[in-house]
Amino acid sequence: MFSDSVWWKNGVIYQIYPRSFADSNQDGVGDLNGIRSHLDYLAWLGVDAIWISPIYPSPNVDFGYDISDHCAIDPLFGTLQDFDNLLSEAHHRGIHIIMDLVLAHTSDQHPWFQQSCQGRENPYHDFYIWSDPLPGNKPPNNWQSIMGGKYWKYDSNCQQYFGHMFYPQQPDLNWHNPAVQAEMLNVFRFWLDRDVDGFRLDVFSSYFKDQNLRNQPFTIGRRPFEMQQHIHDHSQPELENALRSIRKLVDQYPNSYIVGEPFLPDVKSSARYVQPDMLHAAFHLKFTEIPWNASRMLSSLRSWESALSPDAWPCHVLNNHDVPRSSSRFHSDRFDHRLKVAAALMLTLRGTPYLYYGEEIGQRDIQLSRSQILDPVGLKYWPFFRGRDFARAPMQWNASSFSGFSTSTPWLPVHPDFPNRNVEAQQNDPSSLLNWYHRLITIRREYPALQNGIFLPITYEPRKLLAYLRQTKSQSILIALNFSRKPVQLHLGGELLKEQWKLLASSIVTRRDAKIISGKISLAGDEALLLIQDS
Ligand code: GLC
Repeated sequence: MFSDSVWWKNGVIYQIYPRSFADSNQDGVGDLNGIRSHLDYLAWLGVDAIWISPIYPSPNVDFGYDISDHCAIDPLFGTLQDFDNLLSEAHHRGIHIIMDLVLAHTSDQHPWFQQSCQGRENPYHDFYIWSDPLPGNKPPNNWQSIMGGKYWKYDSNCQQYFGHMFYPQQPDLNWHNPAVQAEMLNVFRFWLDRDVDGFRLDVFSSYFKDQNLRNQPFTIGRRPFEMQQHIHDHSQPELENALRSIRKLVDQYPNSYIVGEPFLPDVKSSARYVQPDMLHAAFHLKFTEIPWNASRMLSSLRSWESALSPDAWPCHVLNNHDVPRSSSRFHSDRFDHRLKVAAALMLTLRGTPYLYYGEEIGQRDIQLSRSQILDPVGLKYWPFFRGRDFARAPMQWNASSFSGFSTSTPWLPVHPDFPNRNVEAQQNDPSSLLNWYHRLITIRREYPALQNGIFLPITYEPRKLLAYLRQTKSQSILIALNFSRKPVQLHLGGELLKEQWKLLASSIVTRRDAKIISGKISLAGDEALLLIQDS
């Protein structure tokens, strides 16, 4: 069961894309009972919480991120009873559950939107962002949708435009309307009363748009969306109070947690909402964008740490369902050496690590032809942008057909390398990536310096070596990560040289010690090394 420590600070959080994790009813789509059947695996891996991408009823234009009822379970995934069973069995194993709440918009099939379209007098009309056309039936302003095209869609019944930051089937809610805010608080209450532990707030910084719908100034960019300075369509002043009301409610349920996904990965505007009366945490998404380069990683970390207020707790994300997997981005070799270094980075930084299902076995992005693409944004921009399906393929559990995910053809193809790359094979291989993740998570649990110690970058050779200390009053751990495929030497100077260090872990299974010769430690190519002060 649960320990007293703050789970979302000290723990590791694992994101499950439910369509792709495990299919219990053999319809080709993952479901809640599928997740439940793998709780022992998650407990073995050592995760403290799972964040489940949306499982609510949805027409699935944006695969669950277009919700038509926030207080129910889509029959595709199971029933509320299945959810309660999952929750209680997860809790029994000390695993918390974080729901994904999409509150900036709904599906156009949501009863509120259906009513909203009935006419201007309908009480639900003002639940969404409607505006009269400009002369010539033109849209109300120059805003763009991030998915491509204009922000506005004309509705001939109301003879008005409604706004949508994502697909037209995802109309934006009008958070300026107090009735909308009250309904949203009810959604939190509904799940908190069922005993869920936390929420991921989808694109939280775009809840409010400028009430006067002012045009956005132009800037240089490639796509129309990027050719605007986004000053009126997110991070509006009203957001702070709305987050305060949410936090006040969530705080009535002890140990509950809210993490926000910023709409645009702008470090300053996301960090300022991580406050004792607003969000517990916000995602730092830069790691999902930058190349494999030690100095880029460090400077991104530094800018995030300095943007956060001193008491705020960081969290780190290398993968999620919106970006290509790190295995592809970082061009890891098939033995996953580089991914082991990335794992060590994630699990030894100060802050909560978020892992994405399959990351722990180095799952690769799948390849799809245009006719196999399901994500509408991929269909629209093919071949320049191929969408997000690639990182959402079924989990590779074992070497049986469809990788043990299902016995029916899955909704997206399984990666063809599954007979070799799968959980079962890697659990049996002491040198696998999976066992390295398991080991690092175990070490992280054992050593308080890795959970809440301070973070002190000590020295690095730009681009190649990232080295830092994690330190509490009584414990010092030195982490050295070789970002290069060639050996490098870590130079220890000053106080560090006076200490005695011993090997805590290395991603190179044959390493037995870490000798310091003339103030230097040699690291093999693609090696992650953890040393602990020998007291
Ligand atoms: C978030 C989700 C993404 C979704 C979008 C709209 O960015 O991560 O998958 O398309 O919000 O809800």
